[in-house]
Amino acid sequence: MSERERIRREIDRALRAPGDRPDPATSITRRTFLHKSLVYGAGAAACGLFPTLSTLELAFAQGAGFTFAWISDTHLYPKELNTRFVEKAQRAIKEVAAMDPAPDFLIFGGDLAQLGDPVELRLGADLLKDIKVKKVFIPGEHDWYLDMGATWNKMFGAAPWSFDHKGVRVIGLDTISHAEDFWTARKMSAKERMGNMATLDGTLGGAWAAVGAEQLKWLNSTLASWPKDKPVVVFTHNPLWECYAPWNFWVRDWREAHEVLKPFSNVTNIHGHVHQPLYNEIGKMRSIGMLATSWPWPYAPEGVPPLTKPMIRVDPGDPFDGVGWGKIAFSGRIDAQYMMWRKEVFSDTPWDSGTGDNDNQVLSPRIADRP
Ligand SMILES: [Fe+2]
Ligand SMILES: [Fe+2]
Repeated sequence: MSERERIRREIDRALRAPGDRPDPATSITRRTFLHKSLVYGAGAAACGLFPTLSTLELAFAQGAGFTFAWISDTHLYPKELNTRFVEKAQRAIKEVAAMDPAPDFLIFGGDLAQLGDPVELRLGADLLKDIKVKKVFIPGEHDWYLDMGATWNKMFGAAPWSFDHKGVRVIGLDTISHAEDFWTARKMSAKERMGNMATLDGTLGGAWAAVGAEQLKWLNSTLASWPKDKPVVVFTHNPLWECYAPWNFWVRDWREAHEVLKPFSNVTNIHGHVHQPLYNEIGKMRSIGMLATSWPWPYAPEGVPPLTKPMIRVDPGDPFDGVGWGKIAFSGRIDAQYMMWRKEVFSDTPWDSGTGDNDNQVLSPRIADRP
């Protein structure tokens, strides 16, 4: 066992004390719906696809309950360049706009743009205008590293933020602006910097995902007045735990974040970035990974938690496969629905999902880590 693996196991033992689970007053169901043409986009109708939706429904025994929608990882290019992700974003937006009853709010979970271009961000804002309910935003790395968040913050407001909704404290964090400066010494242009951050393994960006000391302090003070047994929902672009660090499917200071959240018995972290269903529990915190509308990532060669009900392997010839959005309802239980545009979403067998045979896969290091 490597030193890294040993440390991971030790931390896991310390944090995942026996019997330490999320508050059972809020249970979770993860459903998949087959929606026959809730809204057909032009592309979808042409292909004769069955749109399926993905939703999260968080329900708390003590509150009235409510539903919100999640869309993330649209990765829009300027329309003039190509529209391969635009149609899928439009389809998700139409479906959210058609929700009846309407969701209480929409959370956009980051990676609206592909290369942080203001044209891409404006296109995203424009498309999202069709959703009339309250919208809240957290950034993704693809939105940020062209101009270090200047356009994003101006258009969508800066994270972190928090508000209370029907007995739930809702928090949005920025997990993406904390990369260490790899660009200045290399005299990179803004476009080169963005290009490096827009790759899966982060290349020169390294372990860029983090909450950061300042935001941890903010989180601590925001939660200071909140009763320990009342529900907290934390939205992040990256998961608040270590799934697979080489792809930044984590935040590097997830242990510190966990320390801040540990006193609360009912914490749900909902995140994007992974472009796939993921489910994990660490102590009393549960984490739910959501679909992208743009493309699905394969499961990482290690680190997929056993609690995940894995997504079925997607059809590479079908651009609408393996993607979608989410609907979350709270009302005594959490109902998380993945609204994916295919008939079956979850795999019954690990080899259909790419999550099996983890022990025998050989990893190659990130480009940045290669000697
Ligand atoms: Fe993404
Ligand atoms: Fe991302």
